[in-house]
Amino acid sequence: MPPPRICCLGAGYVGGPTMAMIAAKCPDLEVIVTDMNEARIRAWNEGPLPVYEPGLEEVVKKARGKNLRFTADVKSALQAADIIFVCVGTPTKTHGVGAGRAADLTYVEAAARMIAEVAEGAKIIVEKSTIPVRTASAMLTILRSNSKNGTFQVLSNPEFLAEGTAVADLENPDRILIGGEQTPEGRAAVEKVAAIYARWIPRDRILTTNLWSAELSKLVANAFLAQRISSINSISALCEATGADVEEVARAIGRDSRIGPKFLKASVGFGGSCFQKDILNLVYLCEHFGLPEVAAFWESVVKMNDWQKHRFSARVVRELFSTVRGKSIAVLGFAFKKDTNDTRESAAIAVCRDLIKEGARVVVYDPRVSPTQICAEVLGSEKNPNLAVATSALEACHGAHGVAVLTEWDEFKTLDFQKIHDGMQKPAFLFDGRNLLPHENLREMGFKVFAIGKPPVPSAAVS
Ligand code: NAD
Ligand code: UDX
Repeated sequence: MPPPRICCLGAGYVGGPTMAMIAAKCPDLEVIVTDMNEARIRAWNEGPLPVYEPGLEEVVKKARGKNLRFTADVKSALQAADIIFVCVGTPTKTHGVGAGRAADLTYVEAAARMIAEVAEGAKIIVEKSTIPVRTASAMLTILRSNSKNGTFQVLSNPEFLAEGTAVADLENPDRILIGGEQTPEGRAAVEKVAAIYARWIPRDRILTTNLWSAELSKLVANAFLAQRISSINSISALCEATGADVEEVARAIGRDSRIGPKFLKASVGFGGSCFQKDILNLVYLCEHFGLPEVAAFWESVVKMNDWQKHRFSARVVRELFSTVRGKSIAVLGFAFKKDTNDTRESAAIAVCRDLIKEGARVVVYDPRVSPTQICAEVLGSEKNPNLAVATSALEACHGAHGVAVLTEWDEFKTLDFQKIHDGMQKPAFLFDGRNLLPHENLREMGFKVFAIGKPPVPSAAVS
């Protein structure tokens, strides 16, 4: 049997890196990545890559031009493929029924219709996009009622990579999950896809389930991860009120093997394209299936996250003598986490907006995010002289009344804070939204330091 030919619809943060990894690991497989966005395809071909991920360029270079191709000719790519990975976006609906909660499946449906139109013979369609449970059923209906000569198996193979560590996650995942129809044809299709991953991932990490379990597991995994962050962030507020230190509390509870140490880092709030969207999708599903109590439970995770972001900006205002009007605040870091250029739902968006609304002049510096991107996220199409973007941290902080660290970029740990302090208005305030910096050293330099879940002045003795 010749090796299966693979095509991917969607060359974004998931489609590009995932397919590059498959191509690099399986040199005998032909992998074609397609996108309707021609500029994106051009960037994948000519660089700079549209997605910044450590190590990604090496993986792409290994296979591009050999068995990995990027093309905007979606239809030809689909025609040639045996296995089609659907990696298109599934944002939150912005209008109509379920607006603000339900997943917008426009791109998924368009993908299914496009596949049906051109498909000849047997095709395996793999849902890699994160979708509501039972989407496979809708896809199958669309495929089967629109195709003349195609036969289809739809599988769910959700992607668990995290941005910033995508290459490492793809190379060495905790697990691969593949759900399929519980029929001989469904099991055969699952095995075909499992065999691809088995080229570099041990078989015992490849889990197979029914379709609905695989679809739902993705939403649940993200909901559980985000829940841990909201839980520790809720405790960060209590720590600030009582003198406990959230990092010490996280360390203490994380040593319980039933709780575990990961995802207990208190922060200015989680961001990214997935957590909020996927929880809201889960909330919508619970409501749809008549489970309002379950919906309310999960919705509280998002509410707590929103509260944490605004709590941070409110603290900046409060500590700066209750007014930031006319004051300059340097924002260090705009990406939703380090090692990515992605800004979707970044906590920095909410904080910048809050501060600008209070009349502050906000000067942002991020090592990977472009000024255009920063302005578009904060202001949309409007213009506002109170938002500026600097080309270095030092420049952003010059003349500032306060500095807010919102992304945990490694380079911020090596900054010359004495020089930064010298150039700032006094008293110089520093708000560490990531608990990244050495607070005691900064206090010795003269900074007034405020951090997440930490007492403003550590108390040595009980009073
Ligand atoms: P993205 O917006 O970066 O990329 C999606 C791409 O699909 C876009 O470039 C768009 O032009 C393209 N597209 C849309 N319709 C198309 C069609 N019919 N044919 C060809 N191309 C089409 O999105 P992303 O971050 O890569 O996420 C994709 C999916 O993966 C989402 O469902 C998301 O929830 C899920 N996911 C994302 C991550 C992540 O870290 N970003 C992780 C796991 C899962
Ligand atoms: C997440 C999931 O981790 C991944 O499995 C899924 O496939 C996509 O969604 P991602 O959003 O890329 O990945 O990054 P992640 O590392 O999960 O971080 C999400 C947000 O939570 C970031 O803003 C991060 O800074 C924040 N975070 C994470 C915390 O505030 N504290 C933590 O302890 C961990």
